[in-house]
Order: sequence, then C-alpha cells, then structure tokens
Amino acid sequence: MKVEQVEDPVALKDWQAVAALCWDHDHVALPADTLEERLPSLDPALPDGGERTEFFLGVVDRRAVGVAEVNFPTVDNLKAASSRVQVLPDERRQGFGAALLAAVLDRVEAAGRSRVFFEVPSAYPAGVPAAAPLLRSVGARPVLKEVRRLLDLTEQPTLDVPVAEGYCVMQWVDEAPDELVDGLAYLCARMSTDAPQEEMEWEPEIWDGARYREKEAAAMARGRIRYAAAAVHVASGEVAAMTDIGVSRHLPEVAYQWDTIVMPEHRGHGLGLAIKTRNHDLLAASSPESRWLNTWNAEVNTHMIAINQTLGFRPVEYWTEWQLDR
Ligand SMILES: CC(C)(COP(=O)(O)OP(=O)(O)OC[C@H]1O[C@@H](n2cnc3c(N)ncnc32)[C@H](O)[C@@H]1OP(=O)(O)O)[C@@H](O)C(=O)NCCC(=O)NCCS
Repeated sequence: MKVEQVEDPVALKDWQAVAALCWDHDHVALPADTLEERLPSLDPALPDGGERTEFFLGVVDRRAVGVAEVNFPTVDNLKAASSRVQVLPDERRQGFGAALLAAVLDRVEAAGRSRVFFEVPSAYPAGVPAAAPLLRSVGARPVLKEVRRLLDLTEQPTLDVPVAEGYCVMQWVDEAPDELVDGLAYLCARMSTDAPQEEMEWEPEIWDGARYREKEAAAMARGRIRYAAAAVHVASGEVAAMTDIGVSRHLPEVAYQWDTIVMPEHRGHGLGLAIKTRNHDLLAASSPESRWLNTWNAEVNTHMIAINQTLGFRPVEYWTEWQLDR
C-alpha cells in the first residue's frame, strides 16, 4: 500500500469518499464530517481553534482503500497527537489498517510528538473493537471508556425545568456576547480537567478569550453552527455553566453535543439540566431539519449521564480512548 498525504481539495474528495463509506457502514446516525467541514484544514491561514489536522490516503493499485487523519494540538498538549485509521469495509483484514497505522506513527514521530491517542468504537453493551489487536500490537492501551448516546429529537420528552434562583440563562448562536467570553474560556479549560479522564494523560488545556473566539471562528469557517446556552450567576456576573451543540449547515440532520460544564461551586442547583433543555429548545426552533443528537460521556460520569438519560438519550456504542507513549 502507498500512503499519500492529502495536500489539495481534489485528493481530499477521494479521502472523503472513503471516510463516508466507513462511517456509514460502522455507525447509525453518525455520518462522516462533510467535505466542507474538512476543506478549511488544508488552509493554514484559516483559524484552527487549537488543533491542526492532516489527512492520509491509503492507495492500492490506484484504488483508495483506507484513510487516516492526524490531529496536532497547537496550544497545549504539544507532545501529543490524536489519530483515526479507517479501512473500507470490503478491504479489511488484508494488512491495510496496519500499513496506515505505521504511516501515522512515522508522521507523528517526525512531528516530534511522543504520545498518540486513538478513539476506538465498539458495540454496546458488549463487543471487542476490531482495532484492539492492531493497537495492542504497537504498544497502545485503553485508558478511558466513553459511551456514545443518541437522542431522537422527534421523540424527546417535554421537560419543564426551572432555572435556580439567583441565575439567569443567556443563549446565542455562533458568537457569544462579549461579556461572557472570558468566563467561557475558563470553562473550556475546566472541561479538560474536570471531566473524568481515568488513565488518559491529557494535559490541562490553556484557554483565554482570544482562543475562545478562535474556536468560534474555526467552527464558522467549517460551516458549523453553534447553539449555546450559559447560566450566569446574577450577583457576581460569573459564568456558572455552559453548554453548546454543533450542527453542520451542510448536513443538519445530525447534531452533536459539544461541551457541557457547571462550575464546582455552582453544582447541585440543576443548572446542567436547565441549560441543556433550553439549548434543545433553541436547536428545535432554529434547526428543524436536525433529527439526531449525539453525545459522548465517560462511562463513570454519573451526573452528566443522569442528565442525558432524563433528556431521553440512549446508549448506542462504546468509544474507548487508547493511548500510545513512545
Ligand atoms: C480497525 C481497522 C482500521 C483495521 O483495518 P484492517 O485493514 O482490517 O487491519 P489489518 O488487516 O491491518 O489488521 C491488522 C490486525 O488487526 C487485527 N484485526 C483487525 N480486524 C479484526 C477483527 N475484525 N477481529 C479481530 N482482529 C482483527 C488482526 O490481528 C489483524 O491481523 P491479522 O489479519 O493478520 O490477524 C478497520 O477494522 C476499521 O476501519 N474499523 C473501523 C474504524 C476503526 O475502528 N478504526 C480504529 C480507530 S483508530
């Protein structure tokens, strides 16, 4: 197999065709990100929100049979990378996955990164991921077990959740009000330390208002709409909680829960459920084409999962983070 780095939109189209077949075969209500979402990653001048992506195509006899992507954090976790390898369903078990993985590891090493993460899906509640033997063979180990949950937005329960006294909810699309940006950046940093990580060695992320704005700009450049809600503590003006959902304007049928976090000193007031129900209402009103909402949580994150179960989410797959240190 020849592994070629994707440098231009024409090659990315070939890459996209393989990725789309893999995602459609392997998952329900979880299509590949669209070409429009990926094209901006080829242009280093566009905002990347703190992560640069490279794409690789595995070619055999001029046929594209597999793909890999490698993500390089650019602000923190500078010794780490994350990757995904996919082989066309009819082309599996012929050594192509191993060849793509070897190319990824070479690239990661050349970039001076000594740690790589892989997100590996498998059946729920039981099932051995196809990638497990492959990843074990290069020395990787599972470090964090997550569950993907899915909500059919046409069947979500109607919930009437009051907002706790002393807080108000603010909502927006794409760009947050200026007065919230520093608080939102702080909550992004807390996402990287407060969400359970089990044995996954992910360093605390470094966020400020400018990076938060760049994250918004990176999403917009990729045609992703952000529906967001925050709870503000009225007495202090502090952003106590936030949640956001992403939708591609090129494939709005499937939506993605991005971050949700409540500051520790503001937990226990039902703010998580209160902001999430309002954000679901905003999504329903603004994006009626959206049918499915995906979310991922650490299996041990009982509080977040309880909220998601109340909202009607049901588990559909395991997603396990694997870590390789070299
Ligand atoms: C994981 C994946 C990339 C492997 O691709 P592949 O081309 O089939 O991999 P290889 O042929 O190089 O297999 C390498 C080894 O992995 C193991 N393996 C791969 N698929 C397996 C399966 N379904 N069951 C058991 N072992 C398997 C075997 O040890 C295999 O060696 P062998 O065929 O000599 O026994 C492919 O199954 C895939 O695209 N899965 C969906 C996406 C995914 O889960 N990616 C991993 C995220 S990083």
